[in-house]
Amino acid sequence: MAMAQREAPFPASTDAASAPVLTVDGVTLQYKTPDHLVTATYRVGFDIHLGDRLVLLGPSGCGKSTLLKAIAGFLKPVEGAIHLKGKPVTGPGPDRMMVFQEFDQLLPWKSVKDNVAFPMLENGVARNEANQRAMEAIDKVNLTRFADVYPHMLSGGMKQRVAIARAMAMRPDVLLMDEPYAALDALTRRKMQEELLQLWDDIRFTLIFVTHSIEEAVLIGSRVVVLSPHPGQVRAELNCHHLDVTHQDGPEFQMLTRRISRMLFEDKSVGH
Ligand SMILES: Nc1ncnc2c1ncn2[C@@H]1O[C@H](COP(=O)(O)OP(=O)(O)OP(=O)(O)O)[C@@H](O)[C@H]1O
Ligand SMILES: [Mg+2]
Repeated sequence: MAMAQREAPFPASTDAASAPVLTVDGVTLQYKTPDHLVTATYRVGFDIHLGDRLVLLGPSGCGKSTLLKAIAGFLKPVEGAIHLKGKPVTGPGPDRMMVFQEFDQLLPWKSVKDNVAFPMLENGVARNEANQRAMEAIDKVNLTRFADVYPHMLSGGMKQRVAIARAMAMRPDVLLMDEPYAALDALTRRKMQEELLQLWDDIRFTLIFVTHSIEEAVLIGSRVVVLSPHPGQVRAELNCHHLDVTHQDGPEFQMLTRRISRMLFEDKSVGH
């Protein structure tokens, strides 16, 4: 991989002068079940700036997916607010595209190219432009040779790349990824992580990435928001854009993963 150092291309997220792309402000999210109320997150807050790769890290059940669903606009906070470019999020929109963990998020009856073009056509992009943007996005994820094949002919990792291409072709303000590589074998997962970073290096998008893997969080994130166990609250926010990913065995990388691991372990001992 050509990329040696993950330098932030945009003003650092601490730069007060740059307005955040997305703000999550004191957000409490709940589910109502027939017999009780489940509080998934409690007063969670963070800002996301242009070009950030923000990772939400936390143990299973701490509300990571719920938070992503709220940012995507599928769920309304019972407390607090989410703003995209200064406007409250009131529902789903093409400005926030989501990539899920499941491999079967493509339409099986459409080719790779048509899968990627589909959301653009649904959102009023002309056929010619949609096709052109689809091919560009497919090329970015190295699947040009497979543009005309159908999803059942692709491996899980390839399907994930198509899902990423489909999301990116929409040119969203924020790309949302919910454990997109969790079901992949370790080698493919590592390759996909590097590809994602390479893609980010090429086109510098804004990313919110959910994981419960500490290593993945430190590898992918320019910032990592650590959530406590259920109900999720922000435990810490760590800056890692200065880390050199090509040296995963380096002392800084190890120190950060150990620090996060201790944090999560301490939380576990508190229970919930
Ligand atoms: N549709 C639902 N109805 C009721 N409770 C739900 C629903 N979806 C999630 N929950 C609950 O909300 C909490 C947070 O769930 P969520 O799926 O957001 O966790 P997560 O951090 O994404 O976990 P994982 O790492 O396992 O994916 C959990 O206690 C879960 O049981
Ligand atoms: Mg989840």
